[in-house]
Amino acid sequence: MPSVAHPPLKPISNNPHSPLYIGLMSGTSMDGVDGVLVDFSSSFPQVVRHAHLPFNEALKKTLIKLNYSGETPHELEIATTTAIELSHLYAQCVNQLKDPQVTIRAIGCHGQTIRHQPDKGFTIQLVNGALLAELTGIDTLCDFRARDIAAGGQGAPLVPRVHQAWFSTDHCHRVIVNLGGIANITNLDPHASVIGFDCGPANILLDEWIRHCKGVAYDKNGAWGRLGQVNNALLNALLTHPFLAIPPPKSTGREAFNLNWLLSFNLVHKLTPEDVQATLTEFTTLCVARAIQPLRGNLPLEVVLCGGGALNQLLVERLAANLPNVTLTSTDQLGIPVDQVEATAFAWFAMAFDQRIPGNLVSVTGAKHPVVLGTLYPA
Ligand SMILES: Nc1ncnc2c1ncn2[C@@H]1O[C@H](COP(=O)(O)OP(=O)(O)O)[C@@H](O)[C@H]1O
Ligand SMILES: [Mg+2]
Repeated sequence: MPSVAHPPLKPISNNPHSPLYIGLMSGTSMDGVDGVLVDFSSSFPQVVRHAHLPFNEALKKTLIKLNYSGETPHELEIATTTAIELSHLYAQCVNQLKDPQVTIRAIGCHGQTIRHQPDKGFTIQLVNGALLAELTGIDTLCDFRARDIAAGGQGAPLVPRVHQAWFSTDHCHRVIVNLGGIANITNLDPHASVIGFDCGPANILLDEWIRHCKGVAYDKNGAWGRLGQVNNALLNALLTHPFLAIPPPKSTGREAFNLNWLLSFNLVHKLTPEDVQATLTEFTTLCVARAIQPLRGNLPLEVVLCGGGALNQLLVERLAANLPNVTLTSTDQLGIPVDQVEATAFAWFAMAFDQRIPGNLVSVTGAKHPVVLGTLYPA
């Protein structure tokens, strides 16, 4: 996923009401930051540019440790300096996207989640918004989840709001599945209100296992997992994870699905590493398929994939096999490349803040009322 050099943009607009926004997303996979420059002048977003900057190994390690309380000495200071380091990387990403010819109204930056505890009233996404505004010279919005939590919501998931706006149709029942570190689902049934929830791991375990065994970041196209055989005993043991039995709405993260949890199964130490990867791939797809089955109604069901996991061919094949009588497609077919949907969502949240449009869907987050999301750092 290297970043690419782009040809200069055609001048689109150079007035203060320019509909161009930048979205920056770095998710639980901790693979890096995806940035997009988006034109919102029509009803469907047009991604004008995309850039991806990977996290280096040291940053990734620091971020993973910061997810667990007490693992990092001088945790407060390290979290704060890491937010500064991230903001320099985010600014580099913005530099690849911006163009002197055009005015960019604002940046919507999700930041890097290191804690999400809405039941205790807080969530932490690392980013130094003041610094990002200073480095880019562009109004910067961060901290999108806090306002929803303050209104009694879970602060997540937020993207169902845009999945609904961009992908819902009257003629069929769509389920959007974002295969990031965690898999999350948006149910767009024309006869019901929108719901969204996390259904289990997507790339987290696949990435952690190949990293543990081979020192590489991810299983490209599922090629390594394809060499192994699914082990049913391990698969059934993994499927007893208590999170999977909780009815939605629900959310999860690295605290529930991680390498230590995987290593706690004896069989993992006896099978070939490839068999473990094949089993993890099957486990991941079953978590998604079993979450989707109960959502089925009378209308034909279309499952639309996005997120980096949609590029894992083995994962997609196994998902298709575990979801019979379903049309399986991806957001590529609906107009936004799979690796750009989440960043485009945060460009939209920046625009929504600008226009003081509420960004939360109360049927999804459980907030008491709709609220405008984000904190503004003026340029
Ligand atoms: N070609 C590919 N083959 C297999 N997996 C891929 C491929 N491209 C991306 N991925 C997976 O997608 C992950 C990144 O997905 P992403 O949607 O950015 O997740 P997050 O939002 O959690 O950062 C990578 O860590 C990797 O596991
Ligand atoms: Mg990512």
